[in-house]
Amino acid sequence: MKYILGVESTAHTFGVAVLNWGGKILSNIKDSYTTEKGGMIPLEVRRHHKEVAPVVYDEALKEAGITEEEIEAIALSNAPGLAPCLLEGMAFAKRLAKRLGVPIVGVNHCVAHLVIGESVGAKDPVMLYASGANTQVVAFEGGKFRVFGETLDLGVGNFIDTVARNMGLGFPGGPRIQQLAVEFERSEVRNQRSEIRGQRSESGLLELSYSVKGMDVSFSGIQTQIRNLIEKGENFGRIAYSMQEVIFAMLVEAAERALAHTGKKELLLGGGVACNSRLQEMCKIMCKERGAKFFCPDRGLLVDNGAMIGYLGLKMYKAGIFERDLDKVDISPRERTDDIEVLWK
Ligand code: ATP
Ligand code: FE2
Repeated sequence: MKYILGVESTAHTFGVAVLNWGGKILSNIKDSYTTEKGGMIPLEVRRHHKEVAPVVYDEALKEAGITEEEIEAIALSNAPGLAPCLLEGMAFAKRLAKRLGVPIVGVNHCVAHLVIGESVGAKDPVMLYASGANTQVVAFEGGKFRVFGETLDLGVGNFIDTVARNMGLGFPGGPRIQQLAVEFERSEVRNQRSEIRGQRSESGLLELSYSVKGMDVSFSGIQTQIRNLIEKGENFGRIAYSMQEVIFAMLVEAAERALAHTGKKELLLGGGVACNSRLQEMCKIMCKERGAKFFCPDRGLLVDNGAMIGYLGLKMYKAGIFERDLDKVDISPRERTDDIEVLWK
C-alpha cells in the first residue's frame, strides 16, 4: 500500500496529513499559531512551525497507522503565502524527501482549498473562496480556474481579523466575531427576525456601506466606518452582527452573479471563513432560491490543513506532476489561482 503526505505551512497553520492511494484521508493533524491579543508576526509564525513540525508529523503517521517507509510522495504547499512560513515548510519537506528518497509535488494552496470540494461531491461548481488572504469567486473554464470576481482590497478573513484586533481580540478573529454576533442576535433581535428570505430585522443593524462592483467586492470603506464606530464606543456585538450581515451579503451577491453568468448549477463554499454558520446559511438560502446545489466541506478541511494539500497533490502525482530533483523545488509567495495550468483533470 502506498501513501501520500500533505504538508501545509503557508500562513498560520502547520499541518501534516496522510492519504491513501484512493484519496481517503487517514489523518489530518495541525497546530495553528494563535494570539490572545494582536495579529500574527511572520517570523514568530515561522518559529512556531519549526517547533511543532516533529510532533505534528509523528502524530499524523501514528494516527494513520503507517511507517515513514511507506510514504511514496510528499505534497507540499509551496505557494502562495508568507515567505518565512513557506520556507520553513519547504525545509521540512525537503529534509524528509531526501531522507526517504521520495519526490515532492508542489501544490498551490488556493487551488487546494477549491479542489478539496470535490471530496464532498461538487463536480462543476462556482466556488466562493473566502479565506484569510483571499476572497474570490472562481469557476473552472478552459483548462484553468478562472477568477470571475475578487476583493479589490483585503481578503475577507484578514478584514475580519483586523476588526477583531481593533477590538482588542486575538488571532484568529473570525470565530470570536461570530460569537459576538450570535450573542448580540440572541439578546437583541431574535424575536424580530423576519421570516422572508431568512433576512434579519433592520432594527439591530448599523448602517455600513455595501460595496459590490460587478463580481468584485471591497471592504476598505466598511473598515474605516468600523474603526470610527469602535472609537465612539459602539457596542462590539452590534458591530460584529451588522458587519457579518453586510459583508456576507456582498459575497453571496457576487457568487450569485457568477452562477447566473456561467450557468453553473452548484455553489461550493471554501476557505476558513466558510466555517461561519451565518455565511453558510445565506449561501444555502440563495442556492435554494436559484435551484442550485450547495456544497461545503467539514470544518477540518476549511481552515488551512494538510489534507487538502495531500488531496490535490495525489491527483497531480497520479498525472505525473512531481519533482525528484529537490533543488528545483522552490516557493512562490505570490502565485495566483489562475496562474495554474490544470493538467490533472
Ligand atoms: P488564504 O487561504 O487566502 O491564503 P489563510 O490560509 O490565512 O488565507 P484560511 O486558513 O483558509 O486562510 O482561513 C483563515 C481565516 O478564516 C482567518 O481569517 C479566520 O479569522 C477565518 N475564520 C475562521 N473561522 C471563522 C468563522 N467562524 N467566521 C469567520 N471567519 C472565520
Ligand atoms: Fe488558506
